[in-house]
Amino acid sequence: MSRTDLSKSPARIAGMFDAIATRYDFLNHLLSVGVDRRWRRRAIRALSLTGRERVLDLCTGTADLAIASADARPGAARVIGVDFAGAMLQVGQHKIRHGHLTDRITLVRGDATRIPLGDRTVDAITIAFGIRNVENTAAACREMLRVLKPGGRVAILEFGIPATPGVRALYLWYFTHVLPPIGRIVSRHNAAYGYLPASVSAFASPDEFVTVLRECGFVDAIAVPLTFGIVFLYTARCG
Ligand SMILES: C[S@@+](CC[C@H](N)C(=O)[O-])C[C@H]1O[C@@H](n2cnc3c(N)ncnc32)[C@H](O)[C@@H]1O
Repeated sequence: MSRTDLSKSPARIAGMFDAIATRYDFLNHLLSVGVDRRWRRRAIRALSLTGRERVLDLCTGTADLAIASADARPGAARVIGVDFAGAMLQVGQHKIRHGHLTDRITLVRGDATRIPLGDRTVDAITIAFGIRNVENTAAACREMLRVLKPGGRVAILEFGIPATPGVRALYLWYFTHVLPPIGRIVSRHNAAYGYLPASVSAFASPDEFVTVLRECGFVDAIAVPLTFGIVFLYTARCG
């Protein structure tokens, strides 16, 4: 492994995202050539929302997925976005105000391993590109089960590494040689876009993460590859 620091203490992770918050959305759309919006819509579709649900978006960052879930037709009735990076939430809050969604989306500063909500209070949970940053993945999964109502669903997006040989080689080249320097220049942060590929490589494989979900108590946990397996959509249900 390279010398990239992969420690995931809340102070380090929150500090890193706070430092890139104002450029995060621009870089997200640039580096994924806009496909990230399609991945988020796909995650929301997987929840089969009816328009009445209270949805928790964990690791909400700048609230793109929270906004997409409120905007979907049918979408969530209410969304609570939780993240521990205050500057990311500030960018999200600005977008929520701009989109006239303040009555439907509430952002709360908090940790995914100590969700500031009561037991069985949400109908569904989403997470986009957050779970691999959480220091104790299993603790976050157990917290999700605690706040979900029985039968409630989760939809989690996380980066993967494509298995198809040609695609894999091209992707790894892009991910290790193109993305970090662009990220570094645009975000003006030295570590964040080196941490991204390193943390994806170090994260659980799709089978391993499905096993974590099952061992924590979720049922019907599956992983679906999106865009050649660049991203995986994990879905599961609270039994
Ligand atoms: C890559 S960003 C993803 C943001 C957003 N979900 C999106 O799709 O653009 C990861 C976010 O997870 C948050 N995060 C990581 N670990 C967390 C934890 N334990 N509790 C709360 N937020 C966390 C970070 O602060 C950051 O805003």
